[in-house]
Amino acid sequence: MAARQGYFITLEGVDGAGKSSHIEWLAASLRQYAPELIVTREPGGTPAGEQLREMLLHQPMHQDTELLLMFAARCEHLRECISPALARGAWVLCDRFTDATYAYQGGGRGLDDGRIGTLEDWVQQGVQPDLTLLFDVPLEVARARRSGAREPDRFEAEAEAFFERTRQAYLRRAAAAPGRIRIIDASRPIEAVRASVAAVMAERLQAWQ
Ligand code: TMP
Repeated sequence: MAARQGYFITLEGVDGAGKSSHIEWLAASLRQYAPELIVTREPGGTPAGEQLREMLLHQPMHQDTELLLMFAARCEHLRECISPALARGAWVLCDRFTDATYAYQGGGRGLDDGRIGTLEDWVQQGVQPDLTLLFDVPLEVARARRSGAREPDRFEAEAEAFFERTRQAYLRRAAAAPGRIRIIDASRPIEAVRASVAAVMAERLQAWQ
């Protein structure tokens, strides 16, 4: 895989944490620093990955198949989009990445972290986010935000206990990697959340320059 030069930022959180309402705002604020900015998502981000996303979100399947398809989509995304972008110096802002697999498939579904790690090593070949913003909210806040008019997908339709395990797995990962994963209290009003994100970014940009 090509050498890294760019900057790789990921956004994470349980469904309903509200991260998607910040991504375009964050992209707009980063464009002044980034020579080129790619905004993308997982599962998805490539034509094949978006087809896998449709299947993952709507087609019932065994949890091992789900794990493999998450990494299949990620493999395509890395090879065709993320790694070439980083190699030419672009910044990549990605809505979810492998922390979501540890949280949802590891925490939520109860799959073995060692198995996830094996796939991570094979597929990512050392590529890791430089910074991850974990949008954290209590489960009742996430549930209220999820209860829209749209039909829930396979993950959104999961029980509260699934989201509790997912959230706890995210928080454990953040505790294990405090330098990379920054927890943002996303239960607050949108302006306060953005102020926290801006503070983290300002700190990082200072260290980066
Ligand atoms: P999104 O709704 O944030 O776009 O994410 C789609 C769903 O996919 C979300 O419910 C979380 C789930 N997901 C996993 O379960 N594992 C993963 O590795 C990724 C990237 C997403």
